[in-house]
Amino acid sequence: MLRDSQNEVLGTPKILMSKLFNLSDEVAVVIGGTGGLGGAMADALAEAGAKVAVVGRNPERGAQRVAEIKAAGGSAIFQAADALNKDSVVAARDSIQGQLGTTTVLINAAGGNHPDATLPPGADYCKLPLDAWRQVFDLNLVGGVLLPSQVFGESMVSAGKGSIINIASMSGMIPLSRVVAYSAAKAAVINLTQFLAREWATTGVRVNAISPGFFPAEQNRALLYNEDGSLSERGSQIIGHTPMARFGKPDELGGVAVWLASAAAASFVTGQNIVVDGGFSSVTI
Ligand SMILES: NC(=O)c1ccc[n+]([C@@H]2O[C@H](COP(=O)([O-])OP(=O)(O)OC[C@H]3O[C@@H](n4cnc5c(N)ncnc54)[C@H](O)[C@@H]3O)[C@@H](O)[C@H]2O)c1
Repeated sequence: MLRDSQNEVLGTPKILMSKLFNLSDEVAVVIGGTGGLGGAMADALAEAGAKVAVVGRNPERGAQRVAEIKAAGGSAIFQAADALNKDSVVAARDSIQGQLGTTTVLINAAGGNHPDATLPPGADYCKLPLDAWRQVFDLNLVGGVLLPSQVFGESMVSAGKGSIINIASMSGMIPLSRVVAYSAAKAAVINLTQFLAREWATTGVRVNAISPGFFPAEQNRALLYNEDGSLSERGSQIIGHTPMARFGKPDELGGVAVWLASAAAASFVTGQNIVVDGGFSSVTI
């Protein structure tokens, strides 16, 4: 009989394909589920059967997302929280777990850039304002990963089960021009993902990242499009460099999110950074 190095019999009971992407046993928290990409991933998790908590600072947007999920037959609640405030994240966790049960999936989708941390064309890097740099690092690293992974990770480790999915960025692997603080912060998100994956590897908690390429959303629309709706110079450059010759659509992150969330489909996947960018990072000119 075949045995692996830990003397376990190889060949676990076969998992039915129809069960691989079934999340009906999961409670999924999507921080930043009020936004474009987090919202689309919340939709996908709910469609796969998860009970979803949409977390963010804007109750109107949260209520709208919850209503859309329910209208599509899913189960969702909204929970207000500020990811940059540990007390607020703890209160959110306790409220969600009181209503839905122990969180088993956490998507960290709160993040973004700050206009003052983007260098205008030709601007001097040496004059980049420190305040803006700190805000970008705080949002993407502290609120975007550190605090939520501490607060929700603690209960996942106690429960011996969980999947944490951090939303990094293609620019965390290859620094894009001008968005210097954002790229460096997202590189740190990828690094922290790998650290946590190793830290919790034997606890039943997996930690992975998704790195989207360019998906038009509220925070980057002005960078990609002109006011008349035509592509900006930067938007054209990006599409010109993308083998699939288009931007991504938020729904195109749903499949990866459901796969990484699934304890059956991604059972041996941890510490990975899954890039969804239409091929942008795979080519050079
Ligand atoms: N849109 C893209 O092209 C793109 C590309 C790569 C990575 N990303 C990353 O994907 C994630 C989601 O981005 P998006 O494009 O959906 O942006 P978005 O602005 O639509 O969504 C971000 C959401 O996070 C919320 N948020 C911000 N600060 C928060 C805080 N302190 N506490 C709680 N919620 C907070 C915002 O209110 C918003 O609802 C971000 O981490 C972003 O950096 C986006």
